[in-house]
Amino acid sequence: MNDYITIALTKGRLADQTMKLLGEAGYYCEELKDKSSRKLIFVNEEQKLRFFLAKGPDVPTYVEYGAADIGVVGSDIIMEENRRVYEVLDLGFGKCRMCVCGPEEARELLRHHEMIRVTSKYPNIAREHFYNRKHQTVEIIKLNGSVELGPIVDLGDVIVDIVETGSTLRENGLAVLEEVCPVSARMIVNQVSMQMKTRRIREIMANVRDCLE
Ligand code: PRP
Repeated sequence: MNDYITIALTKGRLADQTMKLLGEAGYYCEELKDKSSRKLIFVNEEQKLRFFLAKGPDVPTYVEYGAADIGVVGSDIIMEENRRVYEVLDLGFGKCRMCVCGPEEARELLRHHEMIRVTSKYPNIAREHFYNRKHQTVEIIKLNGSVELGPIVDLGDVIVDIVETGSTLRENGLAVLEEVCPVSARMIVNQVSMQMKTRRIREIMANVRDCLE
């Protein structure tokens, strides 16, 4: 398998956009287009490429341990997981913003640096934002999804989450209270693969980069 390049894709919309971009760059995988398939790994024998689909937070793990040479994942997840990988390209899609959100009343709690409760799928990003950037002591509660529920059912005062269209916030009576950082899809590379498979990885990076311009 050493002459293959293995690429970990984030399941869902990001995978579709990634395959479109890779297609433009000249890398294909017909099998991946079959949405009814339950297969987890797809091979392009001709180009010596393997693709697999994983949950976002697992993509940097596969790449750090070398189970994948390359990964495509959101910068939100890269920041949260803090794995030892090289981040090599901003792919420009999957754009959204990491924000502190909540009901309007929570604005005052933030302004006065009150001891508030924060619910989030991103506890490390929340900690970095409140503790290191704002110097505000908060209690962080990790959730795994539908984080907007937190302030609604009084589990917490605010959330730290990604906002794309803003419709989830609007429909639940919440607003953006603070911006943490912009988010977009990134290409990451295993540090050993970068040394051992330099030529092929550089070629993929260059062909993908050409499609971004
Ligand atoms: C994400 C995010 C927000 C929503 C933001 O959730 O956590 O809930 O999308 O998008 P919007 O601004 O366009 O409404 P996701 O759909 O991934 O589901 P989850 O909350 O269950 O993880």
